[in-house]
Amino acid sequence: MRNSIPIYVPSLLLVLFFSPSLSSLISRDLPLVGSDYSSVLATKLIRELNLFPKEDVNVVHGRNYSLEPKRIVEKRFRFPNLVGSESGVSVEDLGHHAGYYKIEHSYAARMFYFFFESRNSKKDPVVIWLTGGPGCSSELAMFYENGPFRIADNMSLLWNEYGWDKVSNLLYVDQPIGTGFSYSADRHDIRHDEDGVSNDLYDFLQAFFAEHPEYAENDFYITGESYAGHYIPALAARVHRGNKANEGIHINLKGFAIGNGLTDPAIQYKAYTDYALDMGIIQKADYEHINKLKVPACEMAIKLCGTDGTITCMASYFVCNTIFSTIMEHAGDINYYDIRKKCEGNLCYDFSNLEKFMNQQSVRDALGVGDIDFVSCSTTVYQAMLVDWMRNLEVGIPALLEDGISLLIYAGEYDLICNWLGNSRWVHAMEWSGQKEFVASAEVPFVVGDSEAGLLKSHGPLSFLKVHDAGHMVPMDQPKAALEMLNKWTQGSLSEVGGDQEKLVADM
Ligand SMILES: *[C@@H]1O[C@H](CO)[C@@H](O)[C@H](O)[C@H]1NC(C)=O
Ligand SMILES: *[C@@H]1O[C@H](CO)[C@@H](O)[C@H](O)[C@H]1NC(C)=O
Repeated sequence: MRNSIPIYVPSLLLVLFFSPSLSSLISRDLPLVGSDYSSVLATKLIRELNLFPKEDVNVVHGRNYSLEPKRIVEKRFRFPNLVGSESGVSVEDLGHHAGYYKIEHSYAARMFYFFFESRNSKKDPVVIWLTGGPGCSSELAMFYENGPFRIADNMSLLWNEYGWDKVSNLLYVDQPIGTGFSYSADRHDIRHDEDGVSNDLYDFLQAFFAEHPEYAENDFYITGESYAGHYIPALAARVHRGNKANEGIHINLKGFAIGNGLTDPAIQYKAYTDYALDMGIIQKADYEHINKLKVPACEMAIKLCGTDGTITCMASYFVCNTIFSTIMEHAGDINYYDIRKKCEGNLCYDFSNLEKFMNQQSVRDALGVGDIDFVSCSTTVYQAMLVDWMRNLEVGIPALLEDGISLLIYAGEYDLICNWLGNSRWVHAMEWSGQKEFVASAEVPFVVGDSEAGLLKSHGPLSFLKVHDAGHMVPMDQPKAALEMLNKWTQGSLSEVGGDQEKLVADM
């Protein structure tokens, strides 16, 4: 038992697990390496979030899609069971839309999305949010982090005072294909890398702005969390490339933000032991042991993976995650998304209300999803992306910074799995024309209301924010600070010194 049952780690956004033996995995055929094995693990880890999707991926059969000519089928909807009103605005006055986009470069794939018009102004920026996993629905963030509503235990919806739709026109997309309500009639549409992911999202954005031309002039920002530390830079680069080549509709990309993301694995995996030691979850002897035995193997494996490997990338995933799993063996039952917390029994978070809510007939009718299942997290999508995991997505970022597109990296300070230290290190190590100035810039308090909500470093288009009193999911743990962060960042005033001084200037 001890050798065969791996420690894996549940994750919403990142699901890591540890392989007992790399050779036993490589000996099988790729791309199904460790397929049964990782499927069992991925399923178990999804259970640890108290999620029980009926299907492991949304692939449906027996449909004839050539009958649907439209690229986008969208409807305005109103969730049932909404309690209370939002300062006089009735939900009928707000544009809440749910839709399907027929993915252009696919066999038979449909991408599901929500679009919430801003509670403030249609002129607010358009912001897209991407949840990680890989393979988890963006509705996890929509209801537990930064969407317009929260789900009460009795299945009522309550307005979220700090929903990001207060300052932006907000999109949530279920992706990669097979996740959430997104589906395909053909398994070949399952994506394996960031080319597939970013092209689908780019095609979706083209169709979205064609459907909503009144928003195409607005500023546009890409945001998300965790494994989206891969998706976001890839999508930003894809949009920028499309703009430069005058492909389709110009998308007014102003910036991209990653919360507790995985972007540069070589640096971030190496930072695990330092973070764990600093935070007192491992002892010095464990630290030295892991650094000596596990870290060098991981470094070598990642080098082999590079930016475009396949089998070597899968191998490095298994090698490197032994660092994480060994730390967890020493750390015990802590919640690696928030080391101040414990996982109780098998449960690290309880997101079961999401499935309960989304599976209600009244909700499904309101959204127009027909008989499509809701796959909260997909094991198949997760496994399909394993070859992508260890790729370094930092490499495309400097070119975006040089062209003035802003990047915000933020991280809740108590998250282990995508900890702030590893993120801070790759941001500092990134080579671009403003690197020296960024490195030399002073860390200043990020003040929200009367208190310090984090520490901010910035220069030019680049900002790094360490968020206090938060774990992996910053908008869930610090909703007010997260909304303030988004608002200031999209207004270009994040790095201006805090509230009081601003007020002074305003009073003058
Ligand atoms: C789907 O519908 C189109 C248009 O009616 C038809 O030409 C095609 O043969 C159908 N395909 C299948 C697989 O039934
Ligand atoms: C459901 O719970 C919410 C929040 O606790 C409450 O405001 C609402 O009245 C409840 N609805 C019903 C029908 O009990």
